[in-house]
Amino acid sequence: MKQNGLLISIEGIDGSGKSTLAKELYMHFSQFHKTLLTKEPGDSELGAQIRTIVQKQDVPVCAKAEFLLFAADRAQHFEQKVIPSLQQNMIVISDRMADSSVVYQGVARGIDIDFINTVNAWAMSNHKPDVTIFVNTPPHIARERLIMRNKILTAFEKEHTQFMQHVHDGFCTLFNNRKNVIMIDGECDEQTVLHDTLRSLTPWLSDYETKQISTGTIVDRHA
Ligand code: TYD
Repeated sequence: MKQNGLLISIEGIDGSGKSTLAKELYMHFSQFHKTLLTKEPGDSELGAQIRTIVQKQDVPVCAKAEFLLFAADRAQHFEQKVIPSLQQNMIVISDRMADSSVVYQGVARGIDIDFINTVNAWAMSNHKPDVTIFVNTPPHIARERLIMRNKILTAFEKEHTQFMQHVHDGFCTLFNNRKNVIMIDGECDEQTVLHDTLRSLTPWLSDYETKQISTGTIVDRHA
């Protein structure tokens, strides 16, 4: 589907450092371009309620229901936030997106992946990220970070280390042969992660800026 904005998804296991990177990218890009920082689950009024259900799991939520809740959040998120922002030629940075469902609900919980892909495409009105950043952090390091942050662990984070290993392996397999994926070493310090990501994003940024110049949205600073 044609869009003049730039859609960037950031993926990784819990505690991988992707949320920090998402914020830093936002701070960087918003100096030059209209940029939206958003996340799944939870970045709409409906999404905030869904997020509470899936994270707290105060009531039993089976794997099928869990996926459909994430998909409902995604549909609302795209309709209300992502698509309107892309239509305004913005850069949209989303902390998690469809690939989280493929890996957490598909690979790790065993929901049929073709079905997940079909529902995701429908929920996203056939939009796809232009580029996905995979923050690749080993599960034992990610877990140490979560504990150090002294954060209350979500239902997913509380699951045994084997589950996160499964999720980590799922991301690695999914992204191994996919185009438009930037793999970042999440063991590095924050500044290195940001620097490596910005350098790898250069082709997408140049493409985006060229489109903005050709549509007259921004002025060519080099002309
Ligand atoms: P969150 O607190 O946002 O975790 P993080 O800061 O690590 O992103 O909680 C999101 C949790 O939801 C996380 O454990 C991953 C999980 N999740 C899925 O299982 N499927 C999905 O489709 C999405 C978007 C998230």
